Amino acid sequence: MSDKYRRKFHSDELIATFDDILILPGYTYFNPNEVNISSKLGKHVFNTPIFSAAMDSVTEELMAIQMALLGGMGVIHRNCTHERQLEMVKMVKRARSFVVEDVATIHLEEPVSKAKYMMENYGISGLVVLNNLKKVCGIITKRDIPFIDSSLKNGKVKDFMTKDVISISPNASREEALDVLFRHRIEKLPIIDKEGYLKGLITKKDLTPEFPLASKDEEGHLLCALALSPKFPESLEVQKKLMEIDKYVDYFFIDVADFYKEQDIRATKKLMELLESDFVLGNIGTYKAAEHLITKCDFLEDKFVGVKVGMGSGSICTTSIQTGVGAPTLFATAQVADAIEEYNPNISLIADGGFKIPGDLPKAITAGADFIMSGHFFAGCTESPGYIDTIQGRKVKVYRGMGSKEARSAGYVADRYIEDSKMLPEGVSDYVPFVGDVAGVLSSLKEGLRNGMIYAGAKTISEMKNAEIGFISVVGYGEAKPHDLIGKY
Ligand code: XMP
Repeated sequence: MSDKYRRKFHSDELIATFDDILILPGYTYFNPNEVNISSKLGKHVFNTPIFSAAMDSVTEELMAIQMALLGGMGVIHRNCTHERQLEMVKMVKRARSFVVEDVATIHLEEPVSKAKYMMENYGISGLVVLNNLKKVCGIITKRDIPFIDSSLKNGKVKDFMTKDVISISPNASREEALDVLFRHRIEKLPIIDKEGYLKGLITKKDLTPEFPLASKDEEGHLLCALALSPKFPESLEVQKKLMEIDKYVDYFFIDVADFYKEQDIRATKKLMELLESDFVLGNIGTYKAAEHLITKCDFLEDKFVGVKVGMGSGSICTTSIQTGVGAPTLFATAQVADAIEEYNPNISLIADGGFKIPGDLPKAITAGADFIMSGHFFAGCTESPGYIDTIQGRKVKVYRGMGSKEARSAGYVADRYIEDSKMLPEGVSDYVPFVGDVAGVLSSLKEGLRNGMIYAGAKTISEMKNAEIGFISVVGYGEAKPHDLIGKY
């Protein structure tokens, strides 16, 4: 066991959790607005070191897109078919990218009423018009649609479209596109090749940096992460499906409750050979497990970019209750961080689950995390899957553990836990308050982290790992919260 863990927690036996510690104030040598919370995973730097959990009541395409736009990342769950996963990862990769690839088109002989219907129902403001050879011959926007009923009834697209299409060639830069859009005062710019075929569309909305912190790949597309079972599919057909999914994914997150298992490690090595994207492995909870993964397993070094830690402290978890085994996130983070520091500091650490309040984030970073992952903070957001319900006048959304009976009945996550154990759920399903858009939730979390770093005197995430901590008694924790008031506290 390394000295650092001893230095942080003094005792190997104590399994500390977030409420057991406080970060000590440190000397702030910098201007508060210089604090930088960006963090690195593999080849990418994220402006927001926060991921949403791979759970079916937390992260599907909507959450993944919004998390990436806001500088973090959403890990899409695996409690569904590979076809559905493919659909979701495609949506993330294509969202708000520099170029829209699935351009809405219409034939020039179609009735103009159809163009109106498509624009109204597909939420788009214009269509590219194609001729019989499928070459571009015009563009029609909402502004071209006639108000007069008889024109709407009898008119064709070709009668109302703009014939002189301002376009740009494939491979044009973002700057060139912006210049053409500005010079012609237009909003949409079709990309047309030399033969006149449509290759994509650039819209002004996608070009303006509405989301300056967005997590993007080298081509300007949003970063996309997907949860993956550690079982290697023997069927060639399934292998091919995974390879197709791989094209749209930047990070696969191996998704099991306990990854410190010979069987899962062996299969994951085969998956890493089959797929090109980078891998985050997990979950693990101890120094020994991290040491084993880093030094004894021969994972492809350039693909093993992260490790996810914590077991049993999620708000919907019952693993520790049901089995007596667990590695609470703060403890697991400190242990695994030691092994990473000792054996391979290039591996990033994602502290997963158990976060209840914004102040838990800086604590995880201080223990050695590079990123935090939460389901609890995000399950009640507008962007999470599921409907808003009402209980006693309060708006709520369902949040369910992936080991709950409800989630397991979908049939895809049995191997997340001990396989063949059907009677013992390791999670629960319940409600969380509806909390509005993820942007609002993230901004409180980021502020908590940033301000914690300022108080601790840490300008960057790596400096925060050196912040000092102290243990706090139950009585002391009572004092740290609002107390001795007449109101609701
Ligand atoms: P929070 O605290 O954000 O935790 O709700 C989310 C993390 O918990 C893990 N997870 C589970 N663990 N039983 C468990 O023991 C479950 O049913 C379950 N579902 C999710 C997972 O790591 C997630 O990111």
